[in-house]
Amino acid sequence: MSSKEIEEKKVEFLLNKLTLSEKFKLLTGYFFFQTHRILRLGIRTFKVTDGPLGISQHSSFLRKNTYFPAGINLAATWNKNLAFECGKAIGKEARAIGRSCVLGPGLNIGRTPFNGRTFEYYSEDPHLTKEIAIPFVKGVQSQKIAACPKHYVANNQETNRYLVSTEIDERTLHEVYLRAFKETVEEADPWTIMTSYNLVNSEYVHESKKLLKDTLIDKWGFSGFVMTDWWSTSEGGSKKKESSNTPPEKAIKSGLSLEMPKPYIYERSRLKTAYRQGKFTEKELDEIVKRILLVYTKVGMFEKRKNLPKGERNTKKHQNLARRMSEEGIVLLKNSNNILPLSLENTKSIAVLGPNLRRKFGKLLNGGAAAVTPPYEITPLKGLEEKCNGKVKITKDISKADYVLLFMGLNHDSPTKFMSEKIIEEEIEFGNESEKADRNKLGLSESQIVQINETVKINPKTIVVLINGSPVSMEDWLENVPAVLEAWYPGMEGGRAIANVLFGDVNPSGKLPMTFPKKIEDCPSHKSESTFPGVDHKVYYEEGIYVGYKHYEKENIEPLFPFGFGLSYTDFKFEEVQTTKNKLNAMYEILEIKVKITNVGNKAGSEVIQVYSEDVKSSVDRPKRELISFKKVFLEPNETKTIPIEIKGKDLAFYDVSSKDWKLEKGDFILHIGNSSIDFHLEEKITVTN
Ligand code: BGC
Repeated sequence: MSSKEIEEKKVEFLLNKLTLSEKFKLLTGYFFFQTHRILRLGIRTFKVTDGPLGISQHSSFLRKNTYFPAGINLAATWNKNLAFECGKAIGKEARAIGRSCVLGPGLNIGRTPFNGRTFEYYSEDPHLTKEIAIPFVKGVQSQKIAACPKHYVANNQETNRYLVSTEIDERTLHEVYLRAFKETVEEADPWTIMTSYNLVNSEYVHESKKLLKDTLIDKWGFSGFVMTDWWSTSEGGSKKKESSNTPPEKAIKSGLSLEMPKPYIYERSRLKTAYRQGKFTEKELDEIVKRILLVYTKVGMFEKRKNLPKGERNTKKHQNLARRMSEEGIVLLKNSNNILPLSLENTKSIAVLGPNLRRKFGKLLNGGAAAVTPPYEITPLKGLEEKCNGKVKITKDISKADYVLLFMGLNHDSPTKFMSEKIIEEEIEFGNESEKADRNKLGLSESQIVQINETVKINPKTIVVLINGSPVSMEDWLENVPAVLEAWYPGMEGGRAIANVLFGDVNPSGKLPMTFPKKIEDCPSHKSESTFPGVDHKVYYEEGIYVGYKHYEKENIEPLFPFGFGLSYTDFKFEEVQTTKNKLNAMYEILEIKVKITNVGNKAGSEVIQVYSEDVKSSVDRPKRELISFKKVFLEPNETKTIPIEIKGKDLAFYDVSSKDWKLEKGDFILHIGNSSIDFHLEEKITVTN
């Protein structure tokens, strides 16, 4: 018997044994992060944990675990292998603390830099998002731990998150916001999915037959189970609880399996009454229960522990991985006259300052559910102290130092009721990124801008290192400084990674997963209050499919830094593109192109070959260029490599509203090949002949 048949048999067996009230019991959470047990059948509690950046303290009985860099940092690596390794390591840590499901990855699209949870998510671009999500999910599940892509769907802001309805047209919903979920379901088979807080076109997702049963389950073939976001059916535990008015039969028929963490819709008496009144059948109930049981078997609930993958936590291996992720995700934004890298031999002293120099980010609930508390955290100061160790003096004297390093950026606290209003105001002025609140300005705080401009007047060799999880504007200081590094929230080993990049032990290779705009008005979602953050509980996605770089290109707006951009300490030459076949004839066909690239500088380094497609003639309006493939490649100085890159038919398709499906039209496509969304070096024409 195949393992699939064994799993199905087990599920059938359990389903036949369960009583109606036991089935009801399985539909809701029992405590914050676990479900009910039915011991007579060997059904143990299914324990879940946040989240995408590592195992959170709040969902692991206050334990400390490896704190990996933020989601946006992982996306900035453009490295699918690292995404797999990260997922696998998080899966192993989950196993080591007896959890069966990791609540991540976060797949929401960066519609606005103001979203307080941008740091958790990957990108403004659905292609990059899915390419990172797929290996991450595979990595987690390689340990027989369920992944839980979230928050399904169009959850792109925190303001009014329990009540706001995303008003969106069908093509945009599918092409931009559902796309990464669809591809992840089809290619990585995640065992669970979490619905979002917000409504979509005035319907809660947890009760939406259209979004769950019809799309996710029937159309895409999702085999796992759907759970709600925490307290979404009670609007965060509020008294109003409009969201819990959903009749249980509606949620059952829509395919919602698990309500977390407490029952409102699936409250036992409501279920009993609806069943007695014939509003749903046991067969319909079995459909959602079966899914839960199937996942329980997949995570090994009924197997002997010794037969399951062995977990491990807080190992050197995981800590090194956290450092490598940070190193590869750091983006060098500016480097005039190659002021970087610094040299340990030729530098006498560096002055180090700034509000993020000693700040630790890995604290309990810091920034919300994605917070991880590590056993230690290397701050930028600590990383530099280790690196300079007796060779370079570290000082605060900006006038005498050879270089000044300013550690700026945003903060990451969760405003809590214990904070005074003054502190909350200061946090907001500093620029806070966290769950439950959105940012309200794009720039750094006034005090940081003053500090940068005053410092650079005294010492022109002032380098800014940004620590934040979403785009910031820099118009009022960028011109004045010679170098800027974007280090994101870099995880527990961040200080070492930053020092390694500053001193050239690591050549930066990160590329922006989000456009950095000059000002917020340039951003497509910030046309009016109704487009962000919404009025009367509705937010209108008027920009449609033109999200991120697609908008800047269409409107001819110059960004501060474009999507896909990032400098290196070396230079790469894109030599030529070769194809043996340049015709594709089906959605699921793959064509291979080969890109010849040389490292023409004198340092080893990695470049990301990015391929954007232009649909020459289309029956619908399409973005000028869309990312459809990429590959990261490492080259020694003077080394040339010819890199095969896959072009998939389905990545050239658009969502066709009349057939309600993806469509690949006949005709020519120009492939623009380069190293950002605006820097192209090669071109190739391919033809779809279907
Ligand atoms: C967040 C989820 C998280 C859940 C459990 C919610 O507030 O939106 O992302 O997984 O809490 O902590």
